[in-house]
Amino acid sequence: MKNNKLLVAQIKNIIDPNIPLVSNLSNVSSILNQMENINWVGFYLIQNDTLYLGPFQGDVACTIIPKGKGVCGTSFEKKETIIVPNVNEFKGHIACSSLSKSEIVVPIIKNGEVKALIDVDAPIFDRFSIEDKLLLEEVASLLAPLF
Ligand code: SME
Repeated sequence: MKNNKLLVAQIKNIIDPNIPLVSNLSNVSSILNQMENINWVGFYLIQNDTLYLGPFQGDVACTIIPKGKGVCGTSFEKKETIIVPNVNEFKGHIACSSLSKSEIVVPIIKNGEVKALIDVDAPIFDRFSIEDKLLLEEVASLLAPLF
């Protein structure tokens, strides 16, 4: 498995503040897709207090998620990372893919405002650890200045 330090080093290396946000997020989604045992990774971007699908790797996904709905909308509303060990036990989980069994959602926060989310889904239960949370929160803090 690619270790987390290597993923962070690759992400630091690829981020370019002089190119469009969508270009950076596309390459970062590709790097994060090296995480083991996942079936979807990508971004939701906030416009008018609503989440819209951004660059991702994986199957077709929900394009619009209202604030407060699903794991993503809840992370947006609470401005905090949410780890869901079993999506069947999360009330209101939005099933974009029947493959997904566990999920982590990390907000990208700038000046106290959520600008976007990183969402990762796994085809196995209980996939995401505190180490994954720390990794993705570090990635979120590297991306925040781009917004
Ligand atoms: N499961 C998410 C929706 C997004 S997909 O997983 C890509 C949710 O409940 O918010």
